[in-house]
This record gives sequence, structure tokens and C-alpha cells, in this order.
Amino acid sequence: MTDSTLETTDRGAFYNRAVLITGGTSGMGLATARLLLDEGAHVIITGRDDARLARAAEQLDKPSGRGARLLTVRADAAVLADLDRLTAVIRERHGRLDGVFANAGVGVFQRTAEVAEDDFDHTVDVNFKGVFFTVQKALPLLDAAGGGSIVINASWTLHRGLAVAPVYAATKAAVHNLARTLGSDLAERGIRVNSISPGYIVTEMFDAANPDPASHEAIRAGVPLKRLGQAEDIAETVAFLLSPRSSYITAQDIVVDGGLTTAVPAS
Ligand SMILES: NC(=O)c1ccc[n+]([C@@H]2O[C@H](COP(=O)([O-])OP(=O)(O)OC[C@H]3O[C@@H](n4cnc5c(N)ncnc54)[C@H](OP(=O)(O)O)[C@@H]3O)[C@@H](O)[C@H]2O)c1
Repeated sequence: MTDSTLETTDRGAFYNRAVLITGGTSGMGLATARLLLDEGAHVIITGRDDARLARAAEQLDKPSGRGARLLTVRADAAVLADLDRLTAVIRERHGRLDGVFANAGVGVFQRTAEVAEDDFDHTVDVNFKGVFFTVQKALPLLDAAGGGSIVINASWTLHRGLAVAPVYAATKAAVHNLARTLGSDLAERGIRVNSISPGYIVTEMFDAANPDPASHEAIRAGVPLKRLGQAEDIAETVAFLLSPRSSYITAQDIVVDGGLTTAVPAS
């Protein structure tokens, strides 16, 4: 989203903007796709599975007219050939990108002694390597738009130690650092880069990591705002960072966690 080409109309703040969301089949990626489509964007979502992409498309298409602005592409964020194909498809369809939400991520939640090499490699491949190369491959398309905004989905776990997340949290710290470096590197091309650090957000990943509903109450009790986050909380923040409304914000991490990382609950 170049600030010089700001085009906020009654048809939506993202009218005619093209935004790539990796991992858009569920959770925060899906909620962000919904919000941006509502605001007039052309949205490209990715995922690893055709059936899940089709289900997401069906969910997003329900309000009439939105589906025409949605493109689904099966692409594994950790596979560079997939990213090349993805960017070729976007070039063909739109010729440019105004925004990227590098959101695809996996969580293998294990204590240090339990981490297997395959899990280590997979987590690093998707959460770190995947984010890096998603950004690198998208650069020519952002240049074609005259600049834009990139948002990387990190995690609150980069700010606090979590016993079951030694590898996951380190990948999130890596991409947070990447946002700073890229914010520096890409500024002269008119590209802003920020990361976000969601707290506990109710999504498929959250449910998989916390299968026992009884544990949710304990988690909630540790959040000063006394509620678990919703994917829509994150979508609003991402939309702000992708829009010109945040035109002077780059190389930052925005924490969206109900106070989890910085405040102690009152009771
Ligand atoms: N939920 C939380 O509490 C929380 C907190 C902090 C940060 N996060 C981060 O938020 C991001 C989104 O997660 P979520 O909570 O919304 O979970 P989710 O509902 O499980 O969504 C994860 C998304 O990533 C996609 N994905 C996973 N591996 C992929 C790969 N190799 N290539 C392409 N897409 C891939 C999934 O698509 P398919 O499975 O269809 O391929 C899905 O669309 C992740 O980066 C996660 O680390 C989550």
C-alpha cells in the first residue's frame, strides 16, 4: 500500500489493492482475508491443501461479490518452487502486490528434551525460511506497486519464555528480528515491514496446543483483559499495518495480547 497512491473510497480502504496472505485457510489468515475483502481488496490466500482452500473460499465467498476478488493458490511456504509458482500466478492475475501478510506458521509444542530433528527442521522451514523467502519472492511485485506494506506473524512467545516452545519461540524471535532488518533494507523502496505478536488467539493451532478446555480458564486468568483473543482482533491490527493509516510505522513489533506479556492480572 503506497502512501502516495492512497485511495480510500466509499468502496473500502483497500479498494483495488492486491494483498497476499500466506496460510489463509483458517484462523488469523482467514479472518484477515475476510476483513480485507470487506474493505475492497483483491486477496490471494495460500495453504497446503486443496480441500481446505476450497472450504475457505466457500466461507469467504458467501457474501455476494467477494469471491470474484479472491484467488486461492496451493503453495507450501517452505517450498521455494511453490513460492515461485505463487508469485508467477499473482503477476499474471494482478501484476503487483500492495501488501503481504506472511502468516503461515506451524507450532510443535514440546519441551526441550522431546524435540526431534524433523520437528525442529519443519518448524524452522515454515516459520523462518518460509517467511524470509515469501518476502524475497514478493519483492518484485511490491516494487511493481511502487512500494507496499509487509506484516509478519510472529508471537508473544518471542517476548516471554514458554517451556513448551523452545524451537517455535526462537523462529518467532527470528522473524521479529527479520522485520527490523527488512524495515531498514526495504525502506528506500517504499516498503514498510512490521511484525505482530499475537497472544493466545483461539484458532486451530490454539486448540491443537491446548486440547483440554479446562486449561483455557487458567490461560484466560493470566491475561489482564481476562479473555482469549479472537482471530478478528488480529485481523484489525494487520489491516491497520497494511494500510496507509500506519504510514510512519516500520521495523516494529506490535503486540496484540490483552496485556499478557507486559502486565500482571489484577486478580
Ligand atoms: N493461535 C495462537 O495463539 C497464536 C499466537 C501467536 C502466533 N500465532 C501465529 O499465527 C499464525 C497463524 O496461526 P493460527 O493461530 O491462525 O493457526 P491456524 O488456524 O492453524 O492457521 C495456520 C495457517 O497456516 C497455514 N500453514 C501451515 N503450514 C503452512 C505451510 N507450510 N505453507 C502454507 N501454509 C501453511 C495453514 O494452512 P493449511 O493447514 O491449510 O495448509 C493455516 O492456514 C502462525 O504463524 C502462528 O504461529 C498463533
